[in-house]
Amino acid sequence: MIKVGIVGGTGYTGSELLRLIAQHPGAQVVAITSRNEDGLEVAKMFPALRGRLNLKFSDPAKTSLADCDVVFFATPHGVAMAQAPALLAAGVRVIDLAADFRIKDAAVFEKWYGMAHSAQDLLGEAVYGLPEVNRAAIRTARLVGMPGCYPTAMQLGFAPLLAQGHALVDESHLIADCKSGVSGAGRKAELGLLLAEASDNFKAYGVAGHRHLPETTQGLGAISGRSVGLNFVPHLVPMIRGILGTLYARILPEAMDVDFQTLYERHYHDEPFVDVMPAGSTPETRSVRASNMLRIAVHRPGAGDTLVVLVVEDNLVKGAAGQAVQCMNLMFGLAETSGLEQIAASP
Ligand SMILES: NC(=O)c1ccc[n+]([C@@H]2O[C@H](COP(=O)([O-])OP(=O)(O)OC[C@H]3O[C@@H](n4cnc5c(N)ncnc54)[C@H](OP(=O)(O)O)[C@@H]3O)[C@@H](O)[C@H]2O)c1
Repeated sequence: MIKVGIVGGTGYTGSELLRLIAQHPGAQVVAITSRNEDGLEVAKMFPALRGRLNLKFSDPAKTSLADCDVVFFATPHGVAMAQAPALLAAGVRVIDLAADFRIKDAAVFEKWYGMAHSAQDLLGEAVYGLPEVNRAAIRTARLVGMPGCYPTAMQLGFAPLLAQGHALVDESHLIADCKSGVSGAGRKAELGLLLAEASDNFKAYGVAGHRHLPETTQGLGAISGRSVGLNFVPHLVPMIRGILGTLYARILPEAMDVDFQTLYERHYHDEPFVDVMPAGSTPETRSVRASNMLRIAVHRPGAGDTLVVLVVEDNLVKGAAGQAVQCMNLMFGLAETSGLEQIAASP
């Protein structure tokens, strides 16, 4: 059994890690932290875990994580970078769900996240936790920086177009119009997240520049081997879970004869958690709710020169905790799908 520690166990991604690992045949949560809920039984806060997890939250300051095999940080940015060096030195592997180890250039991180990076010497070693792109490196990693929720959808949606060794679309002008449910903002009291503010309403945010942009352009550039231009506009929709990305790319004249449906099907043929749906499909967020599956549909309206790629994922599962468990499985030589084969709950 892999001994798992979770820092930040009361938040949305932390509780999702609990749900998934409680059902995992090869891993067990042995430590879970919360500064606010020190001493509270986990099942008192999350009754769905009654009988499945006999553990109390404990303050991180008095929780020994060095006995764990792996520690997940489901915390705000800045927490993992402070604790990862000591854990790695103690032989513990670290998976961070925040942005501390996603961006390779510390200056770019500091500009977008407004804080100094205190573990810059680990940025070279950290592996970006997107298994469909980085599987081999994740298998041997000690430290994994998990992608953000939107970046997972955007990178997996554009990847087949960019991974062909030569350009098929105008890579300087990709467009991602993405919508997320409110759990993407975390489990906190904030005016814009109140029921009367977020429900029956639909709005864009971060139009001038969102933190997920530099991470996504870094990842898309790594996939294509060329620099990539991306316009990304996120939106908040009145639902709890889920992301729908509508991605646009202009097809180059020399690629007008490409069968993009077949290209996507071949690219993801062996991927357990990417489903390329039949031509003409319009994937819905409820078809992935609470599951680690990401679904894609490829459209070419009017057989013209614009490719439209629809992507849905559950932001808390494939966009966060599920993908983190997928990485843990790879890092510990388990079946990649272990503990992650739940079918989406719909309606
Ligand atoms: N929500 C998503 O869809 C999503 C998707 C992908 C990635 N992420 C990223 O994953 C991370 C967690 O997101 P979330 O939505 O789960 O956040 P959240 O719901 O706000 O939960 C944050 C958790 O971290 C703990 N925490 C806060 N400050 C801490 C500190 N200084 N030291 C130790 N623990 C601390 C909190 O508990 P206490 O305050 O009681 O300690 C809480 O359990 C974030 O970096 C987020 O950007 C989120």
